[in-house]
Amino acid sequence: MYDFDKKYDRKGSECVKWDVYANQDEMLPMWIADMDFEAPAPIYEAFVKRANHHVYAYSKLSEQYYQAVIDWMKRRHNFEIEKDWIVFTPGVVIALTLGVQAVTEPGEEVMILSPVYGPFRGATTACGRKLIESPLVNKDGYYTIDFDDMEKRITPNTKAFMLCSPHNPVGRVWTVEELKGIGDFCMKHNLYLIADEIHNDLVFKEHHVFTNVCPEMADKTILCTAPSKTFNLAGLQASNIIIKDEELRNKFKTLLGNLHVGSANAFVDSVVIAAYTQCDQWLDELNVYIQNNMHYFAKEINSIAPLKMWDPEGTYLAWVDCRGLNMTDDELTAFFKEKCHLAFNAGTFFGPEGSGFVRANMACPRAYVEEAVKRIREGVATLNK
Ligand SMILES: Cc1ncc(COP(=O)(O)O)c(C=O)c1O
Repeated sequence: MYDFDKKYDRKGSECVKWDVYANQDEMLPMWIADMDFEAPAPIYEAFVKRANHHVYAYSKLSEQYYQAVIDWMKRRHNFEIEKDWIVFTPGVVIALTLGVQAVTEPGEEVMILSPVYGPFRGATTACGRKLIESPLVNKDGYYTIDFDDMEKRITPNTKAFMLCSPHNPVGRVWTVEELKGIGDFCMKHNLYLIADEIHNDLVFKEHHVFTNVCPEMADKTILCTAPSKTFNLAGLQASNIIIKDEELRNKFKTLLGNLHVGSANAFVDSVVIAAYTQCDQWLDELNVYIQNNMHYFAKEINSIAPLKMWDPEGTYLAWVDCRGLNMTDDELTAFFKEKCHLAFNAGTFFGPEGSGFVRANMACPRAYVEEAVKRIREGVATLNK
């Protein structure tokens, strides 16, 4: 059994989450999407072993690396892929923007469901493409896809759909029916699909790989996976983008090659192999721990009127509805930061539909979650005075 209750001091390691608040000791940071847990031992050992070889020069990925990725996808997701389909990128966001460029021309449109992870927007607009945003429907915190709204908004200029599955920040793990609906929509309108499945391993019910549900879309899909959220390896910068169609893959690889960012650093090979071959049990225990944190947090939040939240199906991110506080978004951020000393993500980072919400990160020892609840309860009580 891993001890996720252990508080591991990250301060002073130049980690973004804690060290941007280095001068504010009282601040409890529960924002950016990484975890406050130590890496599992096989990962740590792989780093040390590689570090003990004293040359850190240009590196490549081994046969074992690709086999570990293939086996992981099969074992954890019943997803059968071939080595050639895997394109390494140093992160998922760069793959989103290159994916957009591979499947659209400047001026064409990409549809997204909002609220959604903020960089979905930049990945589209920064390269001169346009966004079509279809708002998810929020029913008591449970978000669903509005297929009628998507039909209303699509234009002949829309060429791609960017899906977050599981969905950050609303915590949905899409059902087979929902994914089929997206697939049917893409086929009807001849769209490419860019699926960001970075949270695929952090789920409390079954995650369905998009192309397993919609094999008809396999040749028009760019599917983004990574060990980064799963094993808290965001700082390693390693992602595996699955592109079955050779022509599409070559287009993507050319864009990547033009930027000269497609090679892995010296630690990626051995660390990812360790993660994908020796850490299943750690991950299973992690998911139980996170889900318990979620249950606890949701129950407590829902007892602090007027705050509300729905208990998510996946990710470690809680989406808290604070609209009842009747604050502007700036006031809300100030309330949590200055009154409660809690750093959450502002809901507006995820789009206009996030106004009045905050996102809280539950990938931390339970004691932090309990402390956050205490501070929120006290903070809200002062407002009622
Ligand atoms: C949906 C989603 N995609 C991508 C990322 C970041 O990916 P990367 O750091 O690999 O660029 C995140 C991080 O929170 C995320 O939630």
